[in-house]
Amino acid sequence: MNLIFATNNLHKLDEIRVLTHNRIRILGLSEAGFQGEIPEEYPTLEQNASQKAWYIYNRLNQNCFADDTGLEVEALDGAPGVYSARFSRIGELQYPELDVTEGNIKKLLAMLEGKTNRRARFRTVISIIVEGQETQFEGVVNGTIASVESGTRGFGYDPVFVPDGETRTFAEMNIGKKNKISHRGVATNKLVDFLNL
Ligand code: IMP
Repeated sequence: MNLIFATNNLHKLDEIRVLTHNRIRILGLSEAGFQGEIPEEYPTLEQNASQKAWYIYNRLNQNCFADDTGLEVEALDGAPGVYSARFSRIGELQYPELDVTEGNIKKLLAMLEGKTNRRARFRTVISIIVEGQETQFEGVVNGTIASVESGTRGFGYDPVFVPDGETRTFAEMNIGKKNKISHRGVATNKLVDFLNL
């Protein structure tokens, strides 16, 4: 069976190919011959993952899956959530002079200044559609937001996210360690189980 991963992110494609031991052929969007943007218009991860998967399924008529991830911070009522990627480009506090990722972290630390509750979680939702039937999986990692950045590995909010049970941020861990406990690792392993690989 061929399976399309509705993403252009080559890092995510590599990761899933390792986890599925190459027992199934997983194609990225460009390999599947799809060019262009996929809409992501909803306020929840579940709806966006679903929208992306159906969008590609309906256009390419092939089994496929999509993911959506957000950082949910307790003291910010779950923000940035679905807006995690472009947090520093929206709302009242914006950092147009900074690279988007640097701005995201700076904004997060500014909004948490003086707050004692720094609990947060990363959450990934995967939607897979096989023969017109949709199934969803969730992966969560709980942790806290550090008050300063540490580490140079990973991406996004990794330099300020300390998973529960650890003293280091995701950006201080090697990728193997991060994948074992991460939101995306947990959700992807559920997908691998579902595919019986
Ligand atoms: P996406 O849905 O996987 O594209 O993730 C949306 C945004 O969440 C990214 O642009 C990052 O800012 C953030 N994010 C997702 N996964 C991670 C992670 O593993 N570490 C740090 N930030 C992440």
